[in-house]
Amino acid sequence: MQKFDKAGFDRWAADKRSHFEAAADAALDARTGSLAVLTEAMRYAVLGGGKRMRALFVYAAGELTRARAGDLDELAMAVEFVHGYSLVHDDMPAMDNDVLRRGKPTAHVKFGEAVAMLAGDALQPEAILRIARTQVPADVKVRLMTELALASGRDGMCGGQAVDLLNVGKHLDEAALRRMHSLKTGALISASVRLGALAGAPALFEAAHGELERYSAALGLAFQVIDDILDVTADTATLGKTTGKDDASDKPTFVSLMGLEAARSLAGSLREEAQAALDALSAKGLFDREALECLAGAAALVTERSY
Ligand code: IPE
Ligand code: IPE
Ligand code: MG
Ligand code: MG
Ligand code: MG
Repeated sequence: MQKFDKAGFDRWAADKRSHFEAAADAALDARTGSLAVLTEAMRYAVLGGGKRMRALFVYAAGELTRARAGDLDELAMAVEFVHGYSLVHDDMPAMDNDVLRRGKPTAHVKFGEAVAMLAGDALQPEAILRIARTQVPADVKVRLMTELALASGRDGMCGGQAVDLLNVGKHLDEAALRRMHSLKTGALISASVRLGALAGAPALFEAAHGELERYSAALGLAFQVIDDILDVTADTATLGKTTGKDDASDKPTFVSLMGLEAARSLAGSLREEAQAALDALSAKGLFDREALECLAGAAALVTERSY
């Protein structure tokens, strides 16, 4: 099993998070006049909160394939911008109708629905622009844009959100629930790993690709299983969003399907699956130990998180 030094990982993650915050703060620079409030809402959706898990996946996978640090900042922004937009829209009255996010009023509560919707809309092209600004070869840029588009659209996150909304009050079996979670949450997490890895050396990407897909598929699903668990077990102050919403809204979740204990045990086996993939990568003898440790640390962060 891939071991990692927890203190070392925490230092690495803190450093990457502060890199990310500075880069995103600069990218979402202020505007004046009518654009001021739109920009403020975009900044509100992205900055000053969030675990930055998707950014950390970009950085860890990119370090594995020795990508340029500046390119990884751009790609971390690309996935976090899409994620930030998805949260703004997910919280709106037409979807989950939530008033609290990251310990603050949701964007539509603060700015009104029209501005919140536009801020979410505008973050999507901004994400593509971040990819355009990387210094990778043009064919790699096209691949990065394609991967992000696939992961966020109809066959990825938006598709998963549609399945979520259309199945309120319905029973989904485990296979259907896995599929919904893999789309609505797993796709963007897998894309985060893939984007980071693609930005590096092509030979290292090819050598790591299969195992990284196994790793991220397991963790993407685990991430939403834990989200379902925390909705039941955590308190609103810790989570920064209103708990108990899934049950109140009659959403199909892993907790409603199999109960808390079985959901926890599923998350545990998904983490083992992710670690098995890292062990297989490690056995190839091609990759830096530090980068593998960051990927192992990120797996622990997903499955052991309390918020
Ligand atoms: C919440 O994501 C929405 C899901 C896809 C489960 P996160 O738990 O990553 O939210 P932040 O970014 O840390 O606020
Ligand atoms: C949201 O899932 C997934 C997204 C694509 C935004 P949830 O609706 O469970 O996320 P939370 O619990 O509101 O963060
Ligand atoms: Mg939702
Ligand atoms: Mg929600
Ligand atoms: Mg949830």
